[in-house]
Amino acid sequence: MPALARQADFTVKRSDFPKDFIFGTSTSAYQIEGSSFGGCGSSHWDTFSATSGNVVRCENGALACAHYNHWESDLDLMKDLGVEAYRFSTSWARVMPEGRGAVNQEGLDFYDRLVDGMLSRGLAPNLTLYHWELPSALSDIGGWRNRDIADYFADYAEIVVKRLGDRLSTVATINEPWCVTWYSHFHGAHAPGMRDIRAVSRAAHIVPLAHAKAVSALRALGQKDLGIVLNFEHTSALDDKPSSLEAASLTEGIYNRWFLGGLFKGEYPADVLHYLEPHMPKGWHADMEQIAQPIDWLGINYYTRSLVSAGKTDPDCALPEMIGNKGPLPRTEMDWEVYPEGLGYLLEWISNNYTGTLPLAITENGMANKDAVVDGVVDDQERIAYLDAHFKQALGAIEKGVPLRAYFVWSFMDNFEWALGYDKRFGLVHVDFESFKRTPKASYHVLKKLLEKS
Ligand code: FCB
Repeated sequence: MPALARQADFTVKRSDFPKDFIFGTSTSAYQIEGSSFGGCGSSHWDTFSATSGNVVRCENGALACAHYNHWESDLDLMKDLGVEAYRFSTSWARVMPEGRGAVNQEGLDFYDRLVDGMLSRGLAPNLTLYHWELPSALSDIGGWRNRDIADYFADYAEIVVKRLGDRLSTVATINEPWCVTWYSHFHGAHAPGMRDIRAVSRAAHIVPLAHAKAVSALRALGQKDLGIVLNFEHTSALDDKPSSLEAASLTEGIYNRWFLGGLFKGEYPADVLHYLEPHMPKGWHADMEQIAQPIDWLGINYYTRSLVSAGKTDPDCALPEMIGNKGPLPRTEMDWEVYPEGLGYLLEWISNNYTGTLPLAITENGMANKDAVVDGVVDDQERIAYLDAHFKQALGAIEKGVPLRAYFVWSFMDNFEWALGYDKRFGLVHVDFESFKRTPKASYHVLKKLLEKS
């Protein structure tokens, strides 16, 4: 496998981007805050990670980056980096430890201070309401398989936005529905760790429904700039065998077309629906109009590509087996191939086929790298090369008329990378998970230079 490219500096310039283009960084609550602080309730990630075999070494987000205690100096570092915006999330379990009913005032107060802290440093707050820490009490009653969760989510969304909404630039309802549904209810790789066709078929409808109910509730409050964040992989067939082409098309339908179809066309793609419909909640059709209500922007998370072939499928299986293969390109520490062209392709494909003139934002893009502090320095030139190549793709899409407005690097700092624990470092800032010391990496320094106003 070829080595990852290394680069000491960016080749793109700030002035290559439109004047009002926004650069930001991205994090999520469970991955950085420390769920043991401040009266946060238990979430399904706490118990999933405590169950051996799910997360490396049973690591969890109890301490994470201790951002709950270090948030002021973290925001100082972010300000110093020169980004204009910060994409963060509120934890449902922190705001409502039981998922509904009582509010943990200490939790809401924390986010209130955090948002004021962003504003006082010139950082535009971009909130995501659900980045995966479902309160355990809601998991107990079926989590995303239970339609009632959609209403509880809208209630939670209202509570957060009533408190913070006057100061937020944008609000996203849910981060990466594919991960919340398929990765968590069919592949079993994320909480709640299920592998069940009925579970995923229900969740794949109830998650968009929850988004829609939250959007309706927040619109009624007068909140502006409402959106959702979807993740995409560039998907193609491993070879030209008909079975590979078919498997790639179905994978692409599940990954890239299902949620776009629901949200922007009011219909799920027929090729995928064929397999899911027998297990979906009764009366799902009646929800489609609400699911497809207009939103104000779409967030896109992009990391890699997938080359798909067909597996062996027994006739009684509910879904044909699809295998994601790797090609010959250099891979990051996640073992993900670096394929920047996929980002350019997807931006165009999404806007041409689904979103038209709707503003788009890249809400996550970045890489995990083997980063270590050596003599006080983290020389992550691979990350600089990765970001530079993806920035170029973003620029290419803008030149072709794609209404891309913002780019949030994942992530501001190293954090709890879900099932892979603390080994996978995505940050622009290195975190020592014992001392909680922060060390800006080379990528932070050159990004700062890129962002400096000339
Ligand atoms: C995305 C998640 C984010 C982080 C990155 C690497 O799927 O939204 O929390 O884990 O991947």
